[in-house]
Amino acid sequence: MDKFHRLGVPGDKSITHRLLLLAALARGKSRISGALTSLDIKSTARVLRALGCEVTPLTSSGVVSVTGRGSFRRPRRLLDCGNSGTTARLTLGALAAHPFQATLTGDASLRRRPMRRVTEPLERMGARFSGSNLDRLPLSIRGGDLAPIAWEMPVSSAQIKGSVLFAGVVARCPVSVREPTGRSRDHTERLLRSFGFTVTAAEAGWVHFLPDGRLEPFELEVPGDASSAAFLVGAGLISGARPVRITGVGVNPTRTGFLRVLERMGARVILERAREVAGEPVGDLVAEPTPLRATSVEAMEIPSLIDEIPLLAVMAARARGVSRFLEVGELRVKESNRLALLAENLRALGVEAMASDDTLEVEGTDRAPRGRIRTQGDHRIAMAFAVLGLVDGAEVKVDDLRCASVSFPGFDQVLRSLQRDRRRSAVRP
Ligand code: S3P
Repeated sequence: MDKFHRLGVPGDKSITHRLLLLAALARGKSRISGALTSLDIKSTARVLRALGCEVTPLTSSGVVSVTGRGSFRRPRRLLDCGNSGTTARLTLGALAAHPFQATLTGDASLRRRPMRRVTEPLERMGARFSGSNLDRLPLSIRGGDLAPIAWEMPVSSAQIKGSVLFAGVVARCPVSVREPTGRSRDHTERLLRSFGFTVTAAEAGWVHFLPDGRLEPFELEVPGDASSAAFLVGAGLISGARPVRITGVGVNPTRTGFLRVLERMGARVILERAREVAGEPVGDLVAEPTPLRATSVEAMEIPSLIDEIPLLAVMAARARGVSRFLEVGELRVKESNRLALLAENLRALGVEAMASDDTLEVEGTDRAPRGRIRTQGDHRIAMAFAVLGLVDGAEVKVDDLRCASVSFPGFDQVLRSLQRDRRRSAVRP
């Protein structure tokens, strides 16, 4: 038997959304390979089609062609962003410079998530919004001529940053944004630089954009999603089976805060075959079963691991001592109230956990987790607890694992292969 359990991950969600949008805004046909084709990406494709772009069907091949017209057409129907905050917020940015009205909506979860964080800077630039609650979808936007802006964001967020940058690209006007507590993922900046735009990461969290580039059709490959890989890394650490080797994972430092935290927890995760794909660092991750110790995760680290907190929280449940996640109030406005849901579900499994205002505390235990998990349709809650269900003697029932397909189609098969591997390892002498 191979020393490693070899696994792959689907394409990066954040990069796929951005490539689809950029291709839709360029004039001509682009080809994206290795694209994620999950439900969230289908939402972006649906919205772009309604805006007059051609997007080929998203199939498991991961190859998508997009034919853009250089700008969007006025949509004849509602723009349904499904469960995807990235679709809604980035599309609003791109629409802010288009001189027509469009109405965006989403599923029940997305309709509960705050939108003022993007409508406020876009309104300052010159876009107009209407709706019964300007902080929530459904919202109508009427774009137009935009003025430059220097915007201090209330939270470090790649979706706010990306929204304002997309507005700058389409309006061809300079924009600057400042992230207050640590830098969020910088995929938009990297991609815009590849089209010749000047995008500078300056002091004190500022990012400056100049409209001196030009969107052109492109052919690019999407690296594997670090956030999806995080679940498999977690499985490699706690399942007690063979080391897991995950190939072709994006390891952009603005995404891999979870690896730095796991290292502090004593985890053995090694990066091999480091290389570059589409201007992004990529490598293979090898994770071996390791005893873990508790750690504290600080505010400045949060943007680099915002989506990995569910996974890190279940790792903390297996670590010696009390782990603390500080200033994680943003978790309350993700696909679910992740802060409350993590604490509730950990407790349902017999793990001491407490969520206060914006802090999560988890006390590790070596007792086998047993109980039922309420996901509220949140893909990352589902996957994190499914991973915790891989420890010896665990009996974890996740009420809805299908929601994993929001970001990780095929997660159930990967999970089954991890379960099989664990059973085989358990019977080996
Ligand atoms: C994303 C940014 C993050 C993240 C989300 C994807 C993106 O949200 O949680 O899953 O692609 O820009 P925030 O930027 O609001 O933290």
